[in-house]
Amino acid sequence: MSPRTDIIIKNNKLDKTEDEKIDIESKQYNDLLIIYELAMNQVVGTLNGIKARINQIYGYSMVEKIDSRIKSKTSIINKMKKKGIVLTYKSLVDNIDDIAGVRIVVPLKDDIFFIKQIIENIPTLKVIEEKDYIYNPKKSGYSAYHLIVETPVTINGETVIIKVEIQIRTVAMDFWSEMEHDIRYKSNKPISKLDSKKLTWYAKALENLQAKIIKLYRKHEENTMLNY
Ligand code: GTP
Ligand code: MG
Repeated sequence: MSPRTDIIIKNNKLDKTEDEKIDIESKQYNDLLIIYELAMNQVVGTLNGIKARINQIYGYSMVEKIDSRIKSKTSIINKMKKKGIVLTYKSLVDNIDDIAGVRIVVPLKDDIFFIKQIIENIPTLKVIEEKDYIYNPKKSGYSAYHLIVETPVTINGETVIIKVEIQIRTVAMDFWSEMEHDIRYKSNKPISKLDSKKLTWYAKALENLQAKIIKLYRKHEENTMLNY
């Protein structure tokens, strides 16, 4: 995949004057998404480095998993239509913050804040927005910490600043979200009021139970080490 781009980059910025309408089959749209993919891969690389360092220092895995994805071309268009914004490249770059998405999964809620702090101190990442759904879970029961970061990407000698969404969640919430995503969040099949209530209640129950098991596990590991 070649990162060659004919458009979009002007004066070290994704060109904000690019008012052209998005053509889903065009090279221009593909090129734009390639730039986001480069940004995303850079962020994943940085986070993998941090994961390895934490393992080295603390002797256990605080980051269970790092996933990433580029939003599909049609999902981007659908999101723009839903938001009621014009379908131009400028509008896309300005308004859609989760074209590149990275998800970090950790054992405990405390670990979320530990990782968040590390991210805030990475010189190549500038946090421009934060949403704390840990202290303020969504009505659905969803809880996570969301960050929008900006990171510089260099292509053909030009540097552009690209937004990447980072979601930090616990193992329990990751499981719950994947299930709930298909059952309710992004489903067009109806769900009964009772089942909907159950889903919301299970989010908290699952989170609590998972935390209890991990704490028990860590206590056991500590005791095992003491016995050596
Ligand atoms: P967007 O314009 O979609 O970004 O809306 P927003 O900014 O209000 O939402 P936010 O960025 O807080 O969360 C969007 C992302 O979080 C989604 O793409 C999901 O990955 C995740 N998410 C948020 N709420 C839920 C939820 O209730 N259930 C599930 N499964 N995921 C959720
Ligand atoms: Mg969002």
